[in-house]
Amino acid sequence: MQAIDILVSEVGPRDGLQNTKQFMPTEYKQRWISAAAAAGLREIEVCSFVPPKLIPQMADAAEVVAHALTIPGLGVAVLAPNVRGAERAMQAGAHKITLTISVSKSHSLSNVRMTPDEAVASAKQACALRDALPPARRPKIEAGLSTVFGCTIEGAVSEDEVVRMAVACVEAGCDEVGLADTTGYANPEQVKRVFRKVRAAIGDRLSGAHLHNTRGLGLANVVAALDVGVTTFDSSLGGLGGCPFAPGATGNIVTEDLVFMLESMGLRTGIDLDKLLAIRKIVAEGIPGEPLYGYVPDAGVTKGFTPASRA
Ligand code: COA
Ligand code: ZN
Repeated sequence: MQAIDILVSEVGPRDGLQNTKQFMPTEYKQRWISAAAAAGLREIEVCSFVPPKLIPQMADAAEVVAHALTIPGLGVAVLAPNVRGAERAMQAGAHKITLTISVSKSHSLSNVRMTPDEAVASAKQACALRDALPPARRPKIEAGLSTVFGCTIEGAVSEDEVVRMAVACVEAGCDEVGLADTTGYANPEQVKRVFRKVRAAIGDRLSGAHLHNTRGLGLANVVAALDVGVTTFDSSLGGLGGCPFAPGATGNIVTEDLVFMLESMGLRTGIDLDKLLAIRKIVAEGIPGEPLYGYVPDAGVTKGFTPASRA
């Protein structure tokens, strides 16, 4: 496999589909995941293990994971909101489990019905379940800290609290901590400042950035994160996504635009943009009428565009 500079982690099948009105048929989810892997995506968050009653779009999670695990070389990531979800994810054989842990108390209660500290305690339990598995079957556990840059319910979120939570997640046994702008509140200076602070506290345990484009600052925030050494970015095909429990939170950064920007900047993602763009057709068919966003899909690439991955 070609070396890459930046890992783009596609979260559309999870973050995107948890927020759509329609259920995307399992077969379409599987085609999407296969096509994304064939386009060069190396990690895909394929689903979340949540109560189907609450988020029916994820009712087929185990089936979707089983399919993704058949794709050679693909990192199969999932999201879990609690210990029960982590347990189901481990049974399904996911390679990486992101536990969503909100820094804002109000969002945490609304999203997972636990306080932030209770969510850290549940992460500790999930890590104990991981440690009880034979080493070869242990998934990587990431604490996905959410509402790091602001909360639609509480407004500003304390940066000291973000650092405290990141440290607590590492102490609970999480392998990695990622920072999420669940609500699209972040600005580039804030991104730099918060990533620096968290890195000073937990070093290499700090993983990637999960940025939303709610106010159009998504890619500017990516550039800011690149400046402070972040090399893993979540994004969603067609910018699908948002948190159903954070009122007004919409739209992930668009994978197609992100890949175009990174490749134009000379950063290799290993992703073939033409193949990536072609996936929109599958997604559009799987959830008819759902809007798909993106500038590059509309405008096309620049004349003479030479992606870094092909240079
Ligand atoms: N998967 C499947 N079933 C689950 C589950 C999971 N992860 N977690 C709980 N359940 C089941 C329980 O077994 C219980 O079932 P029962 O009624 O048959 O006994 C029922 O759901 C209620 O369990 P409880 O622990 O009381 O959960 P809750 O009602 O307090 O809900 C969450 C807590 C975390 C499950 C819920 O708030 C949730 O899933 N939130 C989703 C968050 C999310 O995905 N947000 C978007 C990402 S940012
Ligand atoms: Zn998100």
